[in-house]
Amino acid sequence: MTILVTGGAGFIGSNFVIDWLAHHDEAVVNLDLLTYAGNVDNLASLEGDARHHFVRGDIGDSALVARLLAEHGVRAVLNFAAESHVDRSIEGPGAFIQTNIVGTFNLLEAVRGYWSGLDDEARAAFRFLHVSTDEVYGSLSSDAPAFDEQHRYEPNSPYSASKAASDHLVRAYHHTYGLPVLTTNCSNNYGPYHFPEKLIPLVIHNALAGKPLPIYGDGQQIRDWLYVTDHCSAIRRVLAAGKLGETYNVGGCNEKANIDVVRTLCAILDELRPRADGASYATQMSFVKDRPGHDRRYAIDAGKLERELGWRPAETFETGIRKTVAWYLDNQQWVHNITSGHYREWVERQYAQ
Ligand code: NAD
Ligand code: TYD
Repeated sequence: MTILVTGGAGFIGSNFVIDWLAHHDEAVVNLDLLTYAGNVDNLASLEGDARHHFVRGDIGDSALVARLLAEHGVRAVLNFAAESHVDRSIEGPGAFIQTNIVGTFNLLEAVRGYWSGLDDEARAAFRFLHVSTDEVYGSLSSDAPAFDEQHRYEPNSPYSASKAASDHLVRAYHHTYGLPVLTTNCSNNYGPYHFPEKLIPLVIHNALAGKPLPIYGDGQQIRDWLYVTDHCSAIRRVLAAGKLGETYNVGGCNEKANIDVVRTLCAILDELRPRADGASYATQMSFVKDRPGHDRRYAIDAGKLERELGWRPAETFETGIRKTVAWYLDNQQWVHNITSGHYREWVERQYAQ
């Protein structure tokens, strides 16, 4: 049997593919467009592994998806592919509409065509798992209970609105066509292979480079952080045992204000890689203009996933963040390849027509 993972060269997708192959012998077809966020270096540890088959392509290319599904006899599709950075969605929302909404629609159409042609047994066993975000629920006031699956959708950024639209399409394909879908809505992830323009890797990178650590607004915005391999284990669990048509919130019960995350990173770096002048990295913290429409607080109630499927995260924020800093210190070349432009140049050469 084979699964099709989309976006498997991105941050969470690549962690998922590595995690999957460490737990299963089932092969993975990895379909990724290699946008600025996709990086085959993330998959270097799988080189020579016959169970991993990488294809550069677009989830919006229905003919390609249909061919891959049929050729590999795929029994489940896991959709990680997306434009994912809120700041970029404010700068230029078009790509978000294209990939997250139109792309997901085209993917669903290809999957529906394939699935409806399967025999009864294979049709019943088939799964389409859609990876989504807690940001579709909007922003919480400081004393409001965490988001559960009943919380109404109130997306506030072009990114979260496009993810919300994709969630609705996935839901509709279940209700209308009976496609066996599952949706996960997860809080902010962190860990290895996180693209260095997101808060945690950006702060580590800038700290080591002696640059300012930009904190938007007053730094009191709260995110609920989950170590990426805990997200991967939640997805494996939902795929294996989730109820069709249901959504599952995934989170770590780790609500932290941004400024505290930055302070924690500085303290760990002070310990593991002290600055030559003996000063703390915290002296590089710099308050900058706030993000337009910045959501104040996200928090996830993952109680349903724990009660119904027995999932719990393995990492606390303290253990996960320490592992993350250590990973970045050990993998400076990975960061350098991205930030220096080497990686983009390689993609252009490798995939030149
Ligand atoms: P990412 O930006 O690091 O990776 C996205 C990947 O998708 C990249 O490899 C990119 O090349 C690929 N891609 C983009 N457009 C494509 C297309 N049209 N066809 C095929 N591939 C395409 O994102 P991420 O942080 O790994 O997020 C993965 C998924 O998880 C997204 O759907 C995101 O909404 C969701 N999510 C992310 C977080 C988080 O904290 N990062 C939290 C919850 C949910
Ligand atoms: P980010 O990593 O972009 O994730 P998201 O917007 O999806 O939550 O940002 C996490 C939080 O950190 C968010 O509240 C914005 C804030 N932030 C900064 O304060 N400075 C920065 O340079 C970045 C990139 C983010």
